[in-house]
Amino acid sequence: MPAPHTEAPLLAKLFLRKPIPERVEDALGTTLKRTLGKWQLTALGVGAIIGAGIFSAAGTAIAGGADHVGAGPALVLSYIGVAIACGFAALCYAEFAAMIPEAGSAYTYAYSTLGEIVAWIIGWDLIIEYAVGNIAVAVSWSGYFQQLLRGFGLALPEWMATDPITATKAAHTVAQATADGTLSSVAPYVARAAQALSDAPHVFGIPIVVNLPAVAIVALITWILVVGIRESSWFNVAMVVIKLAILGFFIVAGAFYVRPANWTPFAPNGLHGIWTGAALIFFAYIGFDAVSTAAEETRHPQTDMPFAMIASLVITSILYIAVTLVLTGLVTWSHLGTAEPLATAFSERGLNIGAGIISVGALAATTSVLLVFQLGQPRILFSMARDGLLPPVVAKVHEKHRTPHVATLMTGVFVAFFAAFLPIAEIIELTNIGTLFAFVLVSAGIIVLRRLEPDRERPFRTPLVPLVPAVAILSCLGLMLGLPFLTWVRFAVWLLVGMAFYWLYGRKHSVLGRKAAPAPGVE
Ligand code: ALA
Repeated sequence: MPAPHTEAPLLAKLFLRKPIPERVEDALGTTLKRTLGKWQLTALGVGAIIGAGIFSAAGTAIAGGADHVGAGPALVLSYIGVAIACGFAALCYAEFAAMIPEAGSAYTYAYSTLGEIVAWIIGWDLIIEYAVGNIAVAVSWSGYFQQLLRGFGLALPEWMATDPITATKAAHTVAQATADGTLSSVAPYVARAAQALSDAPHVFGIPIVVNLPAVAIVALITWILVVGIRESSWFNVAMVVIKLAILGFFIVAGAFYVRPANWTPFAPNGLHGIWTGAALIFFAYIGFDAVSTAAEETRHPQTDMPFAMIASLVITSILYIAVTLVLTGLVTWSHLGTAEPLATAFSERGLNIGAGIISVGALAATTSVLLVFQLGQPRILFSMARDGLLPPVVAKVHEKHRTPHVATLMTGVFVAFFAAFLPIAEIIELTNIGTLFAFVLVSAGIIVLRRLEPDRERPFRTPLVPLVPAVAILSCLGLMLGLPFLTWVRFAVWLLVGMAFYWLYGRKHSVLGRKAAPAPGVE
């Protein structure tokens, strides 16, 4: 009996690889100028990295939240551990980025080296890193925006400044505390959120609670990107300078107010707290991989790309360590569970002007992160649509503005909608699991490709293969295990939806797959 002959072609189709073009052109038709040097690239990395992860997530990671036990001052160890794990993953990203210096990040690498199905999974997964990640950043932006308004004695009605899930949880906490007679111990930000439900207008009996500032900032950025004001290098440099200056200000000014007694207990929840804290603040390092999307604009991608990724990781981790030490030295660790911990710490010590300055810095930081990812996501969707894996409308380019306006608008609507209704912690967890999974696939890809194509030219070689990728894989998996079970379930559902989409659409419309298919009637 001959083997059924459909098997091999199907498998071969799933693993079709896209040839690497000799001359790489920008996706939108213009050849990009190779102008970026290693320090500009590093600035790009720092621009993409510093945002909600330090300005917001650090609070929940230190004090604990609904599903978390707090790491306390020991969060500093989490930052060190995650930086090392990301360093190993960066060395793997760098090999790919130098080998395929083409915009599009991990999706492009996978398509050229590991085949269509892996590329699809990574591309689908990158939506979690870019678009879902930006939901969290938009919510963080909203928190600091309101903090700033309060500094001026202004306040939005609570029902248009939070999400319904946070409001409902807060209302339960307040009801419980009222019953127990412990209302005075409820944190002010919880009491405020609880107010949202009672003040909200009702439509068909349903209270309308929506995070309007988060929607507004996403709408503004989407509009900017549609009309084509591309994030320019000087804007990025300005944002990076502001972020660094304000974090520097926090460290230096805060250091004078540190009470070493606040560092005891150092690790109130032991290793468990440090581990789950690490799984949460991994978010703070996401973005070093965005350096790879500038590969086409880099003068010496082979050497500058790995340099910039590692340098941006080193710079940000030093800052994060110092910020965490000062933050936990300023006030008791259990008081930091807000979405604006740096400002909270300053206000609690009576440094209200300082808290205002920090809020401005956080707004600058989160705005620049939003821009980088809101710009990156449509480009990945655009590449996927151009390859036939998403409907062609996604790859449309605006006639006048020459921007991928459909993909940009889709991203904007998706991010704004969920930013209106979802709480930050759950979104950060989902982003982290998705991004860690992408890191696992990229690192595994290095090992696989060294075996499949040992002779391929590798301008940058990840050292000590397979040890370095293996450590990257294990540490990313370890961090994934630190995330709640529900996050795993959500992620699994996301991947299943993606696989269904590929099976029903991408597999049939893939440009590469169609080229490879035999002509009708030919066996
Ligand atoms: N690392 C980015 C941030 O913290 C995503 O906002």
